[in-house]
Amino acid sequence: MQRFLTFFLLASGSWAFEKGAAKEDFVRISPENPMVQFGGSLVLNCSASCENIGLETAFTKVLIGEGPGWKAFNLSNVDHWTANLLCYANCEGLQTARATITIYKPPESIKLDPVPEMEVGKPYNLTCWVSGVAPIQNLTVTLLKGAEQLLVKTFEHHTEPEAGPVAVSHRIIAQQSDHNKTVTCQTSLDLRPRGPLLKNTSHNISLRSFDFAGAPQLHADLSLEAGTKMKVTCDAPQVSPAEEAMFHLWFARRPVTFNTSVMGDEASAQAVVTSSSVGEHELICTVSLGPVTKNAKKTVNVFALPTPVLQVDSAEAVVNQAVNITCGADGNASPGFKMQIRDAANILASSNQDQRFLQHAVITQEEDNGREFICRVTLIVDGHTEERRISQKLTVFYGPQIEDSNCPRTLTWKEGSLTSFTCSALGNPKPTVQCWKDGRPYNIGEPQVVQREHDGIYHCNATNQYGSDVRDVTLHVEFSQSIGLIIGCILAVVAVVAFVTVIAYKIYYHNQRIGTYYLWRRGKQQQSPQAVGNSAEQSFLNGNANV
Ligand SMILES: *[C@@H]1O[C@H](CO)[C@@H](O)[C@H](O)[C@H]1NC(C)=O
Ligand SMILES: *[C@@H]1O[C@H](CO)[C@@H](O)[C@H](O)[C@H]1NC(C)=O
Ligand SMILES: *[C@@H]1O[C@H](CO)[C@@H](O)[C@H](O)[C@H]1NC(C)=O
Ligand SMILES: *[C@@H]1O[C@H](CO)[C@@H](O)[C@H](O)[C@H]1NC(C)=O
Ligand SMILES: *[C@@H]1O[C@H](CO)[C@@H](O)[C@H](O)[C@H]1NC(C)=O
Ligand SMILES: *[C@@H]1O[C@H](CO)[C@@H](O)[C@H](O)[C@H]1NC(C)=O
Ligand SMILES: *[C@@H]1O[C@H](CO)[C@@H](O)[C@H](O)[C@H]1NC(C)=O
Repeated sequence: MQRFLTFFLLASGSWAFEKGAAKEDFVRISPENPMVQFGGSLVLNCSASCENIGLETAFTKVLIGEGPGWKAFNLSNVDHWTANLLCYANCEGLQTARATITIYKPPESIKLDPVPEMEVGKPYNLTCWVSGVAPIQNLTVTLLKGAEQLLVKTFEHHTEPEAGPVAVSHRIIAQQSDHNKTVTCQTSLDLRPRGPLLKNTSHNISLRSFDFAGAPQLHADLSLEAGTKMKVTCDAPQVSPAEEAMFHLWFARRPVTFNTSVMGDEASAQAVVTSSSVGEHELICTVSLGPVTKNAKKTVNVFALPTPVLQVDSAEAVVNQAVNITCGADGNASPGFKMQIRDAANILASSNQDQRFLQHAVITQEEDNGREFICRVTLIVDGHTEERRISQKLTVFYGPQIEDSNCPRTLTWKEGSLTSFTCSALGNPKPTVQCWKDGRPYNIGEPQVVQREHDGIYHCNATNQYGSDVRDVTLHVEFSQSIGLIIGCILAVVAVVAFVTVIAYKIYYHNQRIGTYYLWRRGKQQQSPQAVGNSAEQSFLNGNANV
């Protein structure tokens, strides 16, 4: 079409020329709009109606063919941008035809500027550099984030054809979802319809977008006993991506090994710390997420409580012996510790601060047997008292002591009751108690029915290897009169009944045999019942008399 149009114009021009010059002279270049890749070569055909055809160009040209009215040239190394051509021929004067070579060049390089690790919410530039491309007017640069087109840029209004570098820049606000997304820069050099469509793509870059809104939190006790272990956790809440949070832990200027875990948008590190050096030590947790690094710190008071050492000399004493109780402090100690010697109820001695020796003397009493002495070391750490203690019991040996509560001086027992005689004594070791009555040893503690013979004085003697104690116990037996009376009455009644029965029996048989039955019967009818016995006695006497 273009060709046809040009031909038409040229033809009409020639016709006009012919009319003036009366001759159809022309010079033509073919192709009329030559296009060549930068550094490449191209064949140009100059044709003319006249002789002495030539080509004027800055490029290296070689005549590769000629015929009547034409000359073909090969232009090589088209490597600079002075692209004007001129075909000429010697007609009636010099005739010329001009053309401009379109030199194209696919991009030499397409580079994306590196994008730093991004913080969510902050602006960043995505910049693509395209260099060594021509003609720039035919270039389209597209910036892509994943599949999303961020920017499409063209350069129609550029005037220079040279392949200078161009930059395409786009500002983004980092988002959480940008993490791991790929950014690419695509170029397209569209030379159609006369030339090719050349597409190139830059290397990929991955965006790294981090959100670290919350402050890390360190969970640890403020005090730690030297040599013991403490669990520590460092939490980084509201972080994204939580898996990429990097932790570092230090305690007392030393790195600490730790485990990490992730729960939702919270990353945390767990460690166990210990220190043997007494004093204030810093516990530091550093969390890095992409470009952001945050710290959490705590000061931990590492304290040492000395070990209490208790010495009771001697742990076994006799009564009235002086016993020294010594409390010592052994090992590493934080300043400010105190010692005490105490028993279950009272403080017996207290030390000054940082004093490692404390003594208390006891003159042993009987009641000190079994008494527990305690050596206690205390230290106030962060307002609360840390302590260690050790205890020991004292044994005091002493002679027997018979006391009223265990062995009363007088006892009153009721005759017939079931009871036992007890008498024990205090003493260490436990005394043996023996009692005598009327010169005979008496078995104490055995239950027995109280009898009148128990009444009397018991001589008791308690002994152990530290001495003896004696006591006389006077025991009264209360005669049980009521029991005697009842038994007496019962016995009397039984005796009377038995006697009466026997007599009555005897009389009955006797009367049957000797016939005094009626006498007895009559007597019974006439006399009061109380007189029966008398009358019976009488009858008995009579009967006897009769016998
Ligand atoms: C040059 O052009 C002429 C006329 O247009 C043609 O006859 C000739 O074949 C062409 N030569 C080449 C090498 O194309
Ligand atoms: C662009 O593509 C062309 C071929 O299509 C190639 O010759 C050139 O080297 C490419 N440029 C880059 C920067 O990849
Ligand atoms: C982005 O580019 C613009 C202009 O090119 C510049 O003013 C701005 O400072 C750049 N921003 C960043 C974050 O680099
Ligand atoms: C990002 O890519 C890295 C490496 O390819 C991968 O390990 C990680 O899981 C990805 N993170 C997310 C949030 O997709
Ligand atoms: C880390 O985890 C392992 C396995 O659960 C455990 O044995 C180890 O003690 C942990 N280390 C720390 C410093 O917590
Ligand atoms: C108790 O200690 C004092 C002073 O330290 C010492 O004089 C005394 O001999 C000690 N007594 C005993 C029984 O060790
Ligand atoms: C008590 O018994 C001990 C040892 O059997 C004896 O030595 C001591 O004389 C006795 N005391 C009396 C008052 O009988």
